[in-house]
Amino acid sequence: MALAWKASWVQALEGSNPSPSARNYFVMAMISTGIAQASDLRAIYELGQTVAEFEVNDQTVGFWPQAVVADAITSTDVLVIVARNDREELIGFIIANLNKTLRKVLIENLVVAPHARGRKVGGVMLAHLVAIVSGSGYEYLAALVPLQAESALRAYGEAGFSRGHSFVWLDRTLSRHFRRSG
Ligand SMILES: CC(C)(COP(=O)(O)OP(=O)(O)OC[C@H]1O[C@@H](n2cnc3c(N)ncnc32)[C@H](O)[C@@H]1OP(=O)(O)O)[C@@H](O)C(=O)NCCC(=O)NCCS
Repeated sequence: MALAWKASWVQALEGSNPSPSARNYFVMAMISTGIAQASDLRAIYELGQTVAEFEVNDQTVGFWPQAVVADAITSTDVLVIVARNDREELIGFIIANLNKTLRKVLIENLVVAPHARGRKVGGVMLAHLVAIVSGSGYEYLAALVPLQAESALRAYGEAGFSRGHSFVWLDRTLSRHFRRSG
């Protein structure tokens, strides 16, 4: 299993053509990335709930209900990438919405655990995502980032994302599962 993780991490780096310094750094740091498995559910859910940057207003939940995350891990229209440290602990994840018809990938969530930040783990996960969707019919990637989330804006910028216009978040909840009080 460990070898499989490392293989996918190397493929991601090669697919994204990272700088030599980034490649060396991750050999030293022993970070691996791969597609999430059902056993990652709890760790993803617990980390996701702690992220203030995922909040969109006072009424809507800040992270997906656990059952939705479970479905996301097994579905074909959502890609969940995880990063692990050398002890195989989950230290970050990406949840990306894959829309084959629109040829678009929307990154719904990107997070690295606070103790693992500042070491380009987010960039390696983004590189892995790009490596997977490139050549699979997807032609456009986008992400919504709060204006004050400077770390995220830097990480996306380093991963090749261009900054566009700012928009107002509008939402409408159709079930209690997405309401904070639910
Ligand atoms: C955005 C995020 C995933 C970046 O992951 P990362 O692996 O730490 O990314 P990087 O190592 O490239 O660091 C990005 C920037 O974070 C800042 N940073 C560096 N060390 C940091 C630390 N220990 N803690 C917080 N931010 C740090 C720096 O500005 C850095 O940019 P620089 O390397 O050009 O100086 C991570 O900060 C995070 O999980 N943030 C909360 C969730 C979030 O905002 N998600 C996106 C919006 S929904």
